Amino acid sequence: MIYLQIFSGASNMVEGVDRSFMVIFSISLFFLMGITATMIYFIVRYRKTRNPKATQIDGSNTLEIIWTVVPLILVMVMFFYGYRGYVIMREVPEDAMNIKVNGYMWDWDFEYENGKVSKDLYLPINKPVKLNLYSLDVIHSLYIPAFRVKEDAVPGKENYMWFTAQLEGEYEVLCAEYCGLRHSYMEAKAVVIPQEKFDTWLADYHPELNKDPRGLEILKANACTGCHSLDGSKLVGPSFKGIFGIQRIVLVAGKEKTVTVDEDYLLKSIKEPNAEVVKDYPANVMQSYSKVLTNEDMGEIVTYIKTLK
Ligand code: CUA
Repeated sequence: MIYLQIFSGASNMVEGVDRSFMVIFSISLFFLMGITATMIYFIVRYRKTRNPKATQIDGSNTLEIIWTVVPLILVMVMFFYGYRGYVIMREVPEDAMNIKVNGYMWDWDFEYENGKVSKDLYLPINKPVKLNLYSLDVIHSLYIPAFRVKEDAVPGKENYMWFTAQLEGEYEVLCAEYCGLRHSYMEAKAVVIPQEKFDTWLADYHPELNKDPRGLEILKANACTGCHSLDGSKLVGPSFKGIFGIQRIVLVAGKEKTVTVDEDYLLKSIKEPNAEVVKDYPANVMQSYSKVLTNEDMGEIVTYIKTLK
């Protein structure tokens, strides 16, 4: 079980972020209490019975200068700590280990330098890692609260983050950018282990076993799984799980009709998705894929859907 863990020192970024937070928080707290106390004092001191006639106050250069210079110094102090914490985050050490991160609706894939792809982020302790962030569809944001790191994964653009994990353990990895229906399920674990254990884990890689079936690769590459789940859960469109061979009620020009989900129906649904929409699902949401996918691709998809029992 994983939950929000706050560990000081879980990564090398904790110190800078927490210090900058504490500086801003302390200054805010000081002024919240100071202003509230002054306000209460003024209400009592200048109440109508004690001070029946209000005094008109004209400008005061001294006051103007004080309340310009003092806040300027305070925001520059906040800026200094914030900047110092931020600059480290953008300067990646040369010996950092590269991990490619793919975010998509709604999961993270972590790809290591030898090609191994993992659903959880395994990390060797005390080793700088650089995460190269990509998105296959919409904007996501990789967030590891315990490490105090958060960066957007933007489609069509490369972004990165780096850190050194310093404490063994399991930490929560989240998506911090609202990305649709199952945004809150877009989570993973960061597992920090000793270097030797990590090397063993990394070497335990069998490309032939790790590879997705061709049909699933095509579904993922075209973000089909964003709307059609593989596990039976209902998203924007029907799940692919267990649909092959079953009967479905579809709407054809507003009239109900029963069809069998066979190869012809699946191919037609890819080419003309709005011709026979399954009852209780919205029409005109999906576009035709006849110009996007080859006939061979469509065949692979159908073959893969057949296997989803
Ligand atoms: Cu991905 Cu929220």
